[in-house]
Amino acid sequence: MIAAAEILKAKVLIVDDQQANVQLLEKMLRGAGYVSISSSMNPFEVCGLHLNNHYELILLDLQMPGMDGFQVMEGLKEIEQDGYLPVIVITAQPAYKLRALEVGAIDFVSKPFDVLEVKTRIHNMLEVRLLYRERKRQDQLLQEKNIELERIRSVAEKANLAKSDFLSTVSHELRTPLTSIRGALALIAGGAVGELPEAAKPLIEIAHKNSERLILLVNDILDMEKIEAGKMEFNVSPFKLMPLLQQALDGNRAYADLYKVNYELESEIPEAMVSVDGNRLMQVFANLLSNAAKYSPAGGKVLIAVERINGRIRVAVKDSGAGIPDELKDHIFQKFAQADSSTTRNKGGTGLGLSIAKAIIERMGGSIGFDSQPNVQTVFYVELPE
Ligand SMILES: Nc1ncnc2c1ncn2[C@@H]1O[C@H](COP(=O)(O)OP(=O)(O)OP(=O)(O)O)[C@@H](O)[C@H]1O
Ligand SMILES: [Mg+2]
Repeated sequence: MIAAAEILKAKVLIVDDQQANVQLLEKMLRGAGYVSISSSMNPFEVCGLHLNNHYELILLDLQMPGMDGFQVMEGLKEIEQDGYLPVIVITAQPAYKLRALEVGAIDFVSKPFDVLEVKTRIHNMLEVRLLYRERKRQDQLLQEKNIELERIRSVAEKANLAKSDFLSTVSHELRTPLTSIRGALALIAGGAVGELPEAAKPLIEIAHKNSERLILLVNDILDMEKIEAGKMEFNVSPFKLMPLLQQALDGNRAYADLYKVNYELESEIPEAMVSVDGNRLMQVFANLLSNAAKYSPAGGKVLIAVERINGRIRVAVKDSGAGIPDELKDHIFQKFAQADSSTTRNKGGTGLGLSIAKAIIERMGGSIGFDSQPNVQTVFYVELPE
């Protein structure tokens, strides 16, 4: 809605060659509260005036000597490029009314004036005009906002690309020297260069473990960047599920031993086949199995169960540890999401494992989820296409 006060401030021009008509209209409009009224008795100057003042309304007499109202409207059309002429024509000739509307006038007023009718028509036309302007202004603002948003989005996208490039370059550069540091430390720890002094042994052991953690982190970051850039390759083919799971268990058993946790595998469908990238699936289970082990109580059991649900193969990894705290549930699959850092620090890890697992599983057409009852049972499950 346009406020009444706004309408009364609208710029109005009265054009008539008869002074009496000009005076009458002017008096009527001022009496109605309009404050920005001007007038002209010279049709030749109307276009110039409008160009300078952009009237919201021109009350235009049609019959004037030298240049009639129709010619004035032709000139106004060149100024109002969008074709909208803010013109109400004033005429005593019924035949001119239709013609004026055809040429582009918005409305007409008949002479002699019916004051109430004239006032109402002017008010209505101005209201429409101001609404139209307001909408145009909003459209313009919206368009500017959209352009700005698009600019910000493109800057953010470029920054994100630069960040990804930077991360993967740094990670690549780190991986080679780290691998050789780990190799050297492994040799020293294994006694390849002779017996170490007792005091050096735990130090070398710490250095060796940390070099392994760093390599895991660097590999996780590289994987994450590859996934985000859509550059991770997947070779999907049919696999027997049980041997894959067995292999994943074997690969993680030593880790589980550190936490005195046992893995148990059971399957309702020992012959189950899945369409996956075998290595990537192993990577996912390595994370689920290591998580289950490291968050289980000592002496705990981690059960890996396979079943068919709604035509998909579901592998569930169940532990009986402290479970997922409520505040982590919503974003556990996001990068770097970890429970309270004081407990997780002890357990190591970077919080990338589950986000990578989710991306991998989804790329293979599967899904991943969890259900957690603290200290009773926490289940992470993966559902795969057969
Ligand atoms: N079975 C589980 N029981 C309790 N908490 C879990 C379990 N699995 C995951 N979490 C919580 O989810 C967080 C994220 O797991 P995720 O595997 O992504 O990272 P991480 O194991 O800490 O590190 P990474 O896997 O990158 O080495 C963990 O730090 C832990 O807080
Ligand atoms: Mg993990």
